[in-house]
Amino acid sequence: MNIVITGATGFVGQALCRYWHEKGHTLMVVSRQPDKARDTIGVPVTARAKAVDFADQQVDAVVNLAGEPIFNRRWSDAQKRQLIDSRVRATRDVGELCQQLPQPPRKLISGSAMGYYGDQGSREVTEQTPPHDEFAHQLCRQWEEEARKLETGQMSVACIRIGLVLDRDGGMLKPMRPMFRLGVGGRLGKGRQYMPWIHRHDLVRIIDFLLERHDDVDGAWNAGAPAPVTNAEFTRTLAASLNRPAPFVVPGSVISLALGEMSQLLLTGARMVPARLEAAGFRFEYPTLEKALAAIQRDAA
Ligand SMILES: NC(=O)c1ccc[n+]([C@@H]2O[C@H](COP(=O)([O-])OP(=O)(O)OC[C@H]3O[C@@H](n4cnc5c(N)ncnc54)[C@H](OP(=O)(O)O)[C@@H]3O)[C@@H](O)[C@H]2O)c1
Repeated sequence: MNIVITGATGFVGQALCRYWHEKGHTLMVVSRQPDKARDTIGVPVTARAKAVDFADQQVDAVVNLAGEPIFNRRWSDAQKRQLIDSRVRATRDVGELCQQLPQPPRKLISGSAMGYYGDQGSREVTEQTPPHDEFAHQLCRQWEEEARKLETGQMSVACIRIGLVLDRDGGMLKPMRPMFRLGVGGRLGKGRQYMPWIHRHDLVRIIDFLLERHDDVDGAWNAGAPAPVTNAEFTRTLAASLNRPAPFVVPGSVISLALGEMSQLLLTGARMVPARLEAAGFRFEYPTLEKALAAIQRDAA
């Protein structure tokens, strides 16, 4: 298959490119720095600066993951605009590509996040759960709306609401593992907030599943493992996987003071479950956090 990928140089995109390269797909990646992208990704790809630059190719599917990192800097008004605009712009560029291609792609798999639901306390959250209105929700809603505008009779659009992606060389574990390894890890606030998580390999397999093995993909898909955990459980399990204690507690008030509104990402959450994926028959290789962290620990050793 010929697949266009935005955000291919990122933590998720790189793993996706490696997986699909092994499967023999032809990868066309969109990057703000196309010359660097080929080295970053490490498998053969054609890189161009905009999705629409691939309008001269045959494109069977598009995966849209590009966007300003959510945890890069404090959420000033300008940064919030950038978080939304970077995603909306990348998605519009995909729309322009689809319009200019003689034959539109069959599927678009577009990014979103568990933040779509906002703070949900401890209730179980499926794709049907109404969101709590806050910045993370507004960001994901606008990203999804832009993608869903591209749904046509010829092209289906799946929006994947991604949980915290875990693997050894990036994402949230990158800063956490060294601290926990030193025995200075700890719970955030009361630790009751849910952290939907997913092993990066399972996320890649979900994207592949939606692309290749499942027909009816329009709409939202929760892309988190079936066993989300609270921050306290996450802290305990990560510490145990490294054979270290995690005795500390970072008070919520300190996190709020340091991060402002962005502290919502650490202090609130959603017990998001992959209801639609499970109903569609997707099988997780890493359904529990213990299993995911053990594999990551083995790979890192
Ligand atoms: N990782 C997670 O735990 C997680 C959880 C939930 C949702 N997500 C979402 O899933 C997507 C992929 O995640 P990821 O961890 O792979 O992201 P990532 O490592 O931050 O990579 C995203 C890619 O987006 C491009 N990008 C960065 N800033 C941009 C900007 N201002 N404008 C346009 N493009 C920009 C970059 O590509 P170039 O530099 O090559 O242009 C980058 O490689 C992201 O949109 C993220 O929000 C991730």
